[in-house]
Amino acid sequence: RKFIVAIDGPAASGKSAVSETLAVRLGFLHVNSGAIYRCATLLAIRNDLLDLQFKKNLDRMREILKETKITMGPLGTSPIKNENVNRPSTAIFLNGENVTDQISKIEITKNVRFLAKIPEIRAASIEKQRELVQSKNLFETRADSKVDGVIVEGRDIGTAVFPNADIKFFIEAEAKARAKRRFDELVARGLNVDINGDPVDYEQILEDILQRDQEDLTRTHSPLRKAKDAIVIDTSNLSLDQVVGKVESSILK
Ligand code: C5P
Repeated sequence: RKFIVAIDGPAASGKSAVSETLAVRLGFLHVNSGAIYRCATLLAIRNDLLDLQFKKNLDRMREILKETKITMGPLGTSPIKNENVNRPSTAIFLNGENVTDQISKIEITKNVRFLAKIPEIRAASIEKQRELVQSKNLFETRADSKVDGVIVEGRDIGTAVFPNADIKFFIEAEAKARAKRRFDELVARGLNVDINGDPVDYEQILEDILQRDQEDLTRTHSPLRKAKDAIVIDTSNLSLDQVVGKVESSILK
């Protein structure tokens, strides 16, 4: 049986950075549920199925999701190029194709909500998350790690996907702090441009984050909520190292 760590929180709260760093440190598997919704969005765009109000489109989309293999694991070299954000990172593969950078782009980010609000798509995504949790750890497992663990991050992990997780965290930060971090990260990765190659600025990122907060909180099917038993960490004034330290010490307690 795997030891499950659930990390939830709003967009750009630092969940991925914390999960990626800790997964390597503890030799745990890392499952990024947001990346599954992003992959689904990329598939919808590629197959011209973004409008899922039509049952025909929704059925086709579910079929495509079922047929597609999504895997996550380390990439020899970090896809994050700037040394300011030099840390372990998880690469995302769609039928073996590395889509890590593609799914971080603003076009995907802006369109995820159309899929994330649909119960059938959430159910298919959750099925994939549960499969991934049982899959082999592609990160090098630490020889001294006695625990077979997995870190699952998202919005509804502690409340809906793994309500019986062994330990739960809720990571939050003020919207402006989140927008600043996300903007800096996109710049560092050279991803601060839209589909036309025009630069994306901080204001646009902030607007996107506020809109996603609204969508995440008001969705009828498994919205963003703090689990009653979650350890809440406000990271507005904390460095990544400080957050990682807090989460790690709670896990190892
Ligand atoms: O975490 P990330 O920003 O990559 O997630 C992308 C989008 O996927 C979010 O804006 C959210 O709407 C959706 N999502 C979700 N449930 C999750 C994880 C992500 O609805 N567990």
